[in-house]
Amino acid sequence: MAEIIALRQVDKVYKGPPDVHVLFGIDLVFEEGSFNSIVGESGSGKSTLMNIIGTLDTPSAGEVVIAGKYTRTLRRDDLAELRNRTIGFVFQFHYLLPEFSAIDNVLMPHVIGGKRPGREVLEWADELFELMGVAAVKHKPATRMSGGQQQRVAIIRSLINKPGIVLADEPTGNLDSTNTATTYERFRDINQRYGTTFVIVTHDRRIAEQTDRIVEIRDGRIVLDISK
Ligand SMILES: Nc1ncnc2c1ncn2[C@@H]1O[C@H](COP(=O)(O)OP(=O)(O)OP(=O)(O)O)[C@@H](O)[C@H]1O
Ligand SMILES: [Mg+2]
Repeated sequence: MAEIIALRQVDKVYKGPPDVHVLFGIDLVFEEGSFNSIVGESGSGKSTLMNIIGTLDTPSAGEVVIAGKYTRTLRRDDLAELRNRTIGFVFQFHYLLPEFSAIDNVLMPHVIGGKRPGREVLEWADELFELMGVAAVKHKPATRMSGGQQQRVAIIRSLINKPGIVLADEPTGNLDSTNTATTYERFRDINQRYGTTFVIVTHDRRIAEQTDRIVEIRDGRIVLDISK
């Protein structure tokens, strides 16, 4: 299988003062079409790692290769294009643009990608709203949705472009156990149907155990890497 994400000797120092050294010599490769989780205590570096994988932040040392592209050598707009085309994000804290409706939030990355949403995209959006059980809030502004509804709309947004990679940081943190289970079933479904690579940060061991690979980070280092 092809490597869709490869990190080689990645270090991250948040510049201070004081400097904070958060990631140490991370070597990590994810295969195309794989379904993975990242676990670790609060503050261990999971979100930092996700931001670097997603090319939203740059490492202080080392290489990040996404879909065969050495990201360090890419121009800013080429990097943005790679990101928009290849990666769907579900962020830990920042969900939706509050003044915009659910559907406008969902279509935002598509619009940023420079394509007018055609009928196929609108139908896919409808399908996802149904699948995620939030069809009723499609035209509501984010400010008038519950936290769990916002989170599910954010998940729809991450999937709208059918990206090759989905990076999800605690994607079900605001959901009850039923909606959490449903969300993971949908992720699996999309993983199998489209060969989408998933990297999911979770603090929930039971969820992690349903993925094919668990990577554990402790104090900025990989301490465990188990594949089924
Ligand atoms: N912008 C920043 N500047 C300086 N330090 C930061 C910054 N962002 C994160 N840190 C520090 O880096 C370490 C790792 O943070 P990170 O957000 O990656 O942890 P995490 O594993 O995602 O934690 P959580 O499970 O609580 O979300 C923490 O000690 C944090 O305080
Ligand atoms: Mg985090």
